[in-house]
Amino acid sequence: MALSEFAHTNILDTDQFSRKDLETILDTARRIDELQQQRKAFGILEGSVLASLFFESSTRTRLSFETAMNRLGGRVVSTVGFQFSSISKGETLYDTMKMVEAYADIAVIRHPVEGSSRIASAAVDIPVINAGDGTGQHPTQALLDLYTIFKERGGVDGKRVAFIGDLKFGRTIHSLIKLLFNYDVELVLISPVDLALPESYRREMKKSGMSFEETEDLKALWDCDVAYVTRIQEERFVDRSEYERLKNSYTVNRAFVQASRKDTLIMHPLPRVNELSTDVDDLPNAAYFRMAGYGVIVRMALLTLCMGETLPDAKHVTGM
Ligand code: NCD
Repeated sequence: MALSEFAHTNILDTDQFSRKDLETILDTARRIDELQQQRKAFGILEGSVLASLFFESSTRTRLSFETAMNRLGGRVVSTVGFQFSSISKGETLYDTMKMVEAYADIAVIRHPVEGSSRIASAAVDIPVINAGDGTGQHPTQALLDLYTIFKERGGVDGKRVAFIGDLKFGRTIHSLIKLLFNYDVELVLISPVDLALPESYRREMKKSGMSFEETEDLKALWDCDVAYVTRIQEERFVDRSEYERLKNSYTVNRAFVQASRKDTLIMHPLPRVNELSTDVDDLPNAAYFRMAGYGVIVRMALLTLCMGETLPDAKHVTGM
């Protein structure tokens, strides 16, 4: 692939991508997956350092970015939480990023404030990847969600996709909906009225001509090809009693999934609380644990592309 085909160095929001960009990302991820399966080594980021800056809780996103960098032959430096960084001493994010730029070649940042990754990226000349900014965006999760639907169901066009749970605060949903503007899909938004998708997204959906319906009835997922289940985002509620009132709004369990009229693919960005029962886990259409593996592949592709690297020809790589 020629360098000019992928013009992005930063990944801040899913609306920066065209359908062509998405094809490039998916294609790069597929090729990386093949190389991994053949146990081929290609340390294309050898000598590069990733700064892994996680100022909010994370298991999958942080570990999969760090694993991805390691698998590409690069190294990782990291800081976790505000408590152990100089931000707790009053340092601004701008100053922190100026330091990071002196240490690393690329940075990935998770931060509780919406828009923070843009501030971080404006401070530095190295590529910056948003790994979740408050209730805003989580673009790399959305890209791995997209990869999952392609990998498990062969494509996205023509699919009916349900989003279930906290559509108000769930940043993974916000990012994935924006990505889906590039495809021909029908959306079914299932949530309590108080956790409905913010109006700004609905406005954009109408503008783009996307077909969608909204309901509180979980049974609407029985007609869908994909069900994207999410937890109620406890940490985003200002009023604790509101969380207590809404926290048990939905539970998707095995019997419910098996009643579906379609072979509905069950996705979840994880972590789950009680909206998705463990008795779903061993159904073949439960994709969420496989998604954790796809996350490494997709993040390897994103690190490669943002660093302006190209994958080697299959014949030029060595066995591991
Ligand atoms: C999500 C997040 O952080 O937004 N988790 C993740 O990155 N896989 C979803 C969530 O926390 O509910």
